[in-house]
Amino acid sequence: MKAILDKLEAKRAEARLGGGQGRIDAQHGRGKLTARERIELLMDENSFEEFDMFVEHRCTDFGMGETRIPGDGIVTGWGTVNGRTVYVFAKDFTVFGGSLSETHARKITKIQDMAIQNRAPVIGLFDAGGARIQEGVAALGGYGEVFLRNVLASGVIPQISVIMGPCAGGDVYSPAMTDFIFMVRDTSYMFVTGPDVVKTVTNETVTAEELGGASVHAVKSSVADGAYDNDVEALLQMRRLVDFLPSCNTDPVPVLPSRDSIDRMEPSLDTLVPDNPNLPYDMKELIHKVVDEGDFFEIQPSFAKNIVTGLARMEGKTVGIVANQPMVLAGVLDSDASRKAARFVRFCDCFNIPLLTFVDVPGFLPGTAQEYGGLIKHGAKLLFAYAEATVPKITVITRKAYGGAYDVMSSKHIRADVNYAWPTAEIAVMGAKGAVEIIYRSELGDSAKISKRVADYEERFANPFVAAERGYIDEVILPHGTRRRLCRALDMLRRKKQERPWKKHDNIPL
Ligand code: HXC
Repeated sequence: MKAILDKLEAKRAEARLGGGQGRIDAQHGRGKLTARERIELLMDENSFEEFDMFVEHRCTDFGMGETRIPGDGIVTGWGTVNGRTVYVFAKDFTVFGGSLSETHARKITKIQDMAIQNRAPVIGLFDAGGARIQEGVAALGGYGEVFLRNVLASGVIPQISVIMGPCAGGDVYSPAMTDFIFMVRDTSYMFVTGPDVVKTVTNETVTAEELGGASVHAVKSSVADGAYDNDVEALLQMRRLVDFLPSCNTDPVPVLPSRDSIDRMEPSLDTLVPDNPNLPYDMKELIHKVVDEGDFFEIQPSFAKNIVTGLARMEGKTVGIVANQPMVLAGVLDSDASRKAARFVRFCDCFNIPLLTFVDVPGFLPGTAQEYGGLIKHGAKLLFAYAEATVPKITVITRKAYGGAYDVMSSKHIRADVNYAWPTAEIAVMGAKGAVEIIYRSELGDSAKISKRVADYEERFANPFVAAERGYIDEVILPHGTRRRLCRALDMLRRKKQERPWKKHDNIPL
């Protein structure tokens, strides 16, 4: 018996070495951890159970018959993150560059099927060179099987992708269909075709970082939802993220013990909005002061900074936050901000995460660049996402809520549940000056008259009371008591049930 046990241990030890010590050292030399080291950091201690450690590829073409490595370039299994079940797969770059073969794909789909059936999140750690070139269509078929399950799982269980090395060819499309993509700065990059192909086809000379590094995808393309300095930080942040997420679409949000009283008043919020309506202030200060222990997990912090999105907790329960940011472009809604927020709103709605919306928006950004770029369709995405969302929706207008952006930002009219305004709110079709220049165009030569008209317009509309008179605003609240109001409203909405007309699925303007 001892001999059999020793044999098992020897086989396991061989599998754990992946592509061998030389390749492991090279991986470390590039500042990257190995697949197994990453999983150890991600999961609770001793909780990871590996599947399919001895699976090998079946390809015999191009000399592959002689090179079989147990595990076939991917480590899969399940474990817990702070006690909650999570399925995981991690590409092993030391084995055939982590490339995807038929059997490698089967290992992933096994995990995906189990996660869908047993209702728990899947986290994929990517560090790979795409389709196993020697396997041809068998590898392409394998990708198709993975993609299908990404789509079937979407909106049922949270799916998270972390890009920790190269991610090329077929490997980019699976992450692209998951809920979140995070990258590691300087060591990871994602592209459909690499710099060499780009050079051949378009004659552009570009580095891997310039083409698809974190500096591109977390800042310019919005493919990634965030970036971290190294593997360790990325994995620890993923543990933090998992704590915010329900395990599936039929579970309530997780509840974490909170030491933050719901009655906590924040007197500093009474002076957050400057007297001069043209001066900015930091909306993140409001978010940090209102949520439990100031703990805010921001999504896409470096893209479309004129809108802020992220997860936080109120009374220990997860909420999704969307907020215009007056510090950037005066908080205007443009195509990027609309797309960013729309996707986040839909994520929250899939997973029963109530939405808190903080509004200070001067409208949609005018100009040919925006119109040519499809602002109408992109803005409609956010309007559509809020209108279809049936989770509890609570809105606080802190200052400007102008024009169509007033309607879009979780207004009463698109079924927000509770709409508050601070006394500093200004709810109108547009700013007073712009409004007067249109409706009193004939008086434009007379500056005294125009100033008086502007003052009259401000007096009439630069306040929350016209909207409150109509019941579009449920109550005008004092800023210092915002946290208490929000906690109470969330509690009141705890059992909210809202139906939509039957449909196969909607047709959001993509
Ligand atoms: C088989 C691969 C491989 C692949 C890398 N390797 N990619 N083996 N299939 N796709 C092997 C290498 O041969 C090498 O083996 C080892 O992995 C490490 O690779 P290196 O090139 O030495 O590493 P590095 O210099 O770091 O470059 C990494 C890389 C590069 C940028 C990922 O390997 C690369 O460009 N690979 C090809 C990428 C690609 O074009 N993939 C196919 C995409 S098409 P040895 O034994 O020499 O160490 C695709 C279609 C799917 O995916 C579409 C579905 C929609």
